[in-house]
Amino acid sequence: MTTATPTGDGAGGAAWLPDEATLARLANEFLAALPGERPVSGPPARELPLAAPGPHQAAVAPRLEPATALPVSQPAVTPPLTTPPVTTPPLHTPPVARPQVPPPQAGPGISQPERQLAQPAAQASGPRGTGQSFGLTSPGQAFELPGPGQAFTGPGIGQAFTAPALSLATAPRFYFVDELSAATLPAPAVTVDPQPGFDVERVRRDFPILAERVNGRQLVWLDNAATTQKPQAVIDRLSCFYCHENSNIHRAAHTLAARATDAYEGARATVAGFLGAPSADTVVFTRGATEAINLVAQAWGRRYVGAGDEIVISHLEHHANIVPWQQLAEQTGATLKVIPVDDDGQLLLDAYADLLSRRTRLVAVPQVSNALGTIVPVQQVIEAAHRAGARVLIDGAQAVAHIPVNLQAMDADFYVFSGHKVFAPTGIGVLYGKPEVLESMPPWQGGGNMIEDVTFERTRYRQAPARFEAGTGSIADAAALGTALDYLSEVGLPGIARYEHELLGYATGEMRSVPGLRLIGTAPDKASILSFVLEGYRPEEVASALDACGIAVRAGHHCAQPTMRRFGLEGTVRPSLAMYNTWAEVDLLVAALRRLADDAGRRR
Ligand SMILES: Cc1ncc(COP(=O)(O)O)c(C=O)c1O
Repeated sequence: MTTATPTGDGAGGAAWLPDEATLARLANEFLAALPGERPVSGPPARELPLAAPGPHQAAVAPRLEPATALPVSQPAVTPPLTTPPVTTPPLHTPPVARPQVPPPQAGPGISQPERQLAQPAAQASGPRGTGQSFGLTSPGQAFELPGPGQAFTGPGIGQAFTAPALSLATAPRFYFVDELSAATLPAPAVTVDPQPGFDVERVRRDFPILAERVNGRQLVWLDNAATTQKPQAVIDRLSCFYCHENSNIHRAAHTLAARATDAYEGARATVAGFLGAPSADTVVFTRGATEAINLVAQAWGRRYVGAGDEIVISHLEHHANIVPWQQLAEQTGATLKVIPVDDDGQLLLDAYADLLSRRTRLVAVPQVSNALGTIVPVQQVIEAAHRAGARVLIDGAQAVAHIPVNLQAMDADFYVFSGHKVFAPTGIGVLYGKPEVLESMPPWQGGGNMIEDVTFERTRYRQAPARFEAGTGSIADAAALGTALDYLSEVGLPGIARYEHELLGYATGEMRSVPGLRLIGTAPDKASILSFVLEGYRPEEVASALDACGIAVRAGHHCAQPTMRRFGLEGTVRPSLAMYNTWAEVDLLVAALRRLADDAGRRR
């Protein structure tokens, strides 16, 4: 006899009730059967999650709540604020060889069909290398990524971004949010993308999460400086790796090791090509920008910086470009010097020139400030440092997704960035180093992968970049970083930069018109970032109120406390733009801020 398994969770629910997953599935089936209840414009509501939502509700699929689950109770939708749907196909097809998974071939003892290596390898970019390059698989053969058939089929954005009404479906955490209603929304100042060469709607369709609903509203992701969202191509790349390539790399005579090695080394070549680096050997994979800077501080710094030497940074630094140098200074007896900034957040280049001397060993500055958005004139900084005989590290964490970078033209000695800020996964980043500089550096960490030969008496190290990659790296994430950069190349960074520049200019003008709003960081040359404070509110209150409207922005010190304090603040609100943001989203942000500003008096 079989006994029905109780599915209650024991947390107060009756044991005979179906579990939450079953309830969610039943609800989905019920909703699917309702006639004509989906909103006519904007993306359809997503399926209910089959798993319980995580603790950070905004980051997960909608809960099983009527406001989200039942289309009939969706807030009234306003007419689309952007251009009508376009029918061009999404860009998410990665510009890499696509997989041709052959029909199953039964073989003795093989339950899963072994995939055939199909296409010849392309250039050294993306997951295109051949197994042969590592001597592990048949010559001239490569395989491809999953086809578009596996592409994301969830709600697209193709029907144009539909402005969510600003009335709340969920309980507000601030009373003034109640006031944000559709009735108060001004007509958007610009409804047509003024950059006709850049198809933002097409780009948006490649990012499934942009169709997510948060607090009953369509997500408006303006937290790109913290991390960017991922295109379907990147999501697929990760999945493909674990479905078809997963293996440790370099040291194995089997096919999957060759595939994984090709994916990893192919991504390295892609990074080099994307940054205009002289060769793939100048690209070291790290966990991110932070680890890359620490690597330079410890491996290069411990060898080349001594007592009495000076390290020059700026007042615009993320903590990741302060703390490792402080630690190095403590360890070596060196001194840290800081380039001041003016009230707009621009480096004072005369003061910088005065700081440089024969004692300067290293200058480390951001290409774009994460707190203010200032674009630093890195070319001038580098040339002056080199004249003084110093090396230069450029922190490109906030630049790579927004500005075309050519490292050979720039002539930086080191350049770092994080994959997750450039539409790739977390856990992967890059240190670029000039070949002669990397070769002159001792390893940072010791272990497997970085050695030529080990005895108990001594170890011989491999050349760069392997010398700096002890242990097993983030192989799939590296492959997906290659895909993200290929994707960016396909969209085209010059066009992205122009588009974002226009959008930033528009947002700046609109935000300036909000009463009581003070922009922090007003340099003429800026990228992506709009830091501000709003009279009558703490930054977190503003961010929280915006979140209730589905608008994600960051509030706080942005890991740049010295920068904040230069402006007499402990924190700001920081919307930050990326290529998929729109004029309509800026309008929503500004409308919400304007309403908050109007209500500021009532709170006092
Ligand atoms: C300018 C800058 N540098 C470095 C970092 C550190 O990046 P990660 O945390 O990805 O290592 C950040 C992150 O926000 C940043 O904005």
